[in-house]
Amino acid sequence: ERQKHIRNFSIVAHIDHGKSTLADRILELTDTIAKRDMQAQVLDDMPLERERGITIKLNAVELHYKAKDGETYIFHLIDTPGHVDFSYEVSRSLAACEGALLLVDAAQGVEAQTLANVYLALDDDLEIVPIINKVDLPSAQPEVVKEEIEEMIGLDASDAILTSAKTGLGVPEVLERIVSDIPAPSGDLDKPLKALIFDSVYDSYRGVVLAVRIEDGIVQVGDTIELMSNKKRYEVTEVGVMSPKAVQKDYLMVGDVGYITAAIKTIQDTRVGDTVTLADNPADKPLDGFRQITPMVYSGLFPVDNAKFNDLREALEKLQLNDAALEFEPETSQALGFGFRVGFLGLLHMDVVQERLERDFDLDLIMTAPSVDYQVDKTDGTTITIDNPAELPDSSEVKEIREPYVKASIMVPNDYVGPVMEIAQRKRGEFVTMDYLDKYRVNVIYNLPLSEIIYDFFDQLKSSTKGYASLDYEVTGYRASDLVKMDILLNGDPVDALSSIVHKDFAYDRGRAIVAKLKETIPRQQFEVPIQAAIGTKIIARSTVKAYRKNVLAKCYGGDITRKRKLLEKQKAGKKRMKAVGSVEVPQKAFMSILKMN
Ligand code: GTP
Repeated sequence: ERQKHIRNFSIVAHIDHGKSTLADRILELTDTIAKRDMQAQVLDDMPLERERGITIKLNAVELHYKAKDGETYIFHLIDTPGHVDFSYEVSRSLAACEGALLLVDAAQGVEAQTLANVYLALDDDLEIVPIINKVDLPSAQPEVVKEEIEEMIGLDASDAILTSAKTGLGVPEVLERIVSDIPAPSGDLDKPLKALIFDSVYDSYRGVVLAVRIEDGIVQVGDTIELMSNKKRYEVTEVGVMSPKAVQKDYLMVGDVGYITAAIKTIQDTRVGDTVTLADNPADKPLDGFRQITPMVYSGLFPVDNAKFNDLREALEKLQLNDAALEFEPETSQALGFGFRVGFLGLLHMDVVQERLERDFDLDLIMTAPSVDYQVDKTDGTTITIDNPAELPDSSEVKEIREPYVKASIMVPNDYVGPVMEIAQRKRGEFVTMDYLDKYRVNVIYNLPLSEIIYDFFDQLKSSTKGYASLDYEVTGYRASDLVKMDILLNGDPVDALSSIVHKDFAYDRGRAIVAKLKETIPRQQFEVPIQAAIGTKIIARSTVKAYRKNVLAKCYGGDITRKRKLLEKQKAGKKRMKAVGSVEVPQKAFMSILKMN
């Protein structure tokens, strides 16, 4: 009976089309916000630690909605990110839903991530409710957007709901349509427990908190659960729902979306996509796991202070817990010492991870320029895969190098097709086709090397289209290219962490640009530092960082010792995020100089 009243759904949208605003309106209309205030008072009586533990962020909320039919429904709104890097997170969230609200901005129309996300939802056979938002804007063109939805997605948009999440217009209808259009969860209460882990966070007080969708059966406090991938067993200490703060329950049953804690201390044990069952009454087979997601971009991460290596490992392990796409393995660099080679989904993912490591874990890091992975056929008949340019064998041993290619779809207003094509050509793009989306906009398709996309393709695209372009891409395979390794020598020594793999035709330009950039970013040292770019033994560009004119300590000679020490300390603080490479101090920025080219 309860199961019939459950509705599990997500909102899929392109960035900025109003997802968060619509979610806020829905929370308000279902009095979930008011309820939270009440909760907050209850929580005040709890020990501080407990209270702190409650503020965990899981991306699913339970709401209660009294519909026009007089019945009360339980809604689980599951959040999804909108950015291209995170489509795997979207798919794991969608796996917990029966339906999705497709939100499209009435002034912007269907954009690249609208399409990418709605296709994921359609792949999962979700029921889609189209919504056209921001109809309050003077530039809104709901009829044009309806056409786009029908043409481009193939969905019937005649009954699309017109909303303004800002004013609240149309939002009551959204709630009714969730009830009428999205099916209740199927699944069987009497079957053994099967619960899908779709998110998890680590909480120092409660251990791992699992966000789950119960597909079959029931789970209660005191049950012994088993994680099906590794057979690890735990006793459940708490179950509950987020509403939007954690609310404890006695049980979670079929169709529910909530959380489970079981004093799980080993974060490696829990993997998003795994199935939870009961130890004494196990399900016969796990749910279909998620598509294995593979990183696309790799970068070296090194602690500025070598003694922080283990801290960095622990931090990465914690992040990996709710970020199944994050991969890492130890790496040793001659220049930077001990660190990790880390795999990311894309540049945004890389930024997010770097920021979290520095902010949440208080680590000072040096990060090397991102690289894609390459397949290398060697002359001895073997094939290797490398994701670190420094590992590319000598050209005499290389027969062929293949690099990942993507099919990129760039949506822009007609007027900007010229600049878009220019950038794509410059990035070694191969034109595929161009479709008119409607009278004003086109979808330009290019095959492009992934490595060129990570060299600030998106930034260039945005700036030459006044921000109008939207981009989506998927990797289609590997292609042979004329690639070479470019080494950078500082003070005559090659610095492994500055090596990059470039197309032969671009080598000279890139070499010159990198050398110029390094000259700007490397501060003056006690001695002259020659900077060279080389391909094999051939130097293709060079420059020099001049020496200081005076030693900083010179003015302290004979002076008192405290002043001298202060000066040294000041210098040391200024060195944060600098790393001694041989005898040369190199700042973090220098390692990214390869990225800011053209
Ligand atoms: P991300 O969280 O970045 O993915 O964005 P989002 O899709 O959640 O969009 P968000 O709700 O943050 O809205 C983006 C902007 O659009 C904000 O400035 C909102 O105030 C505005 N906005 C949202 N809905 C409406 C609407 O119906 N009308 C108008 N005029 N503005 C809206």
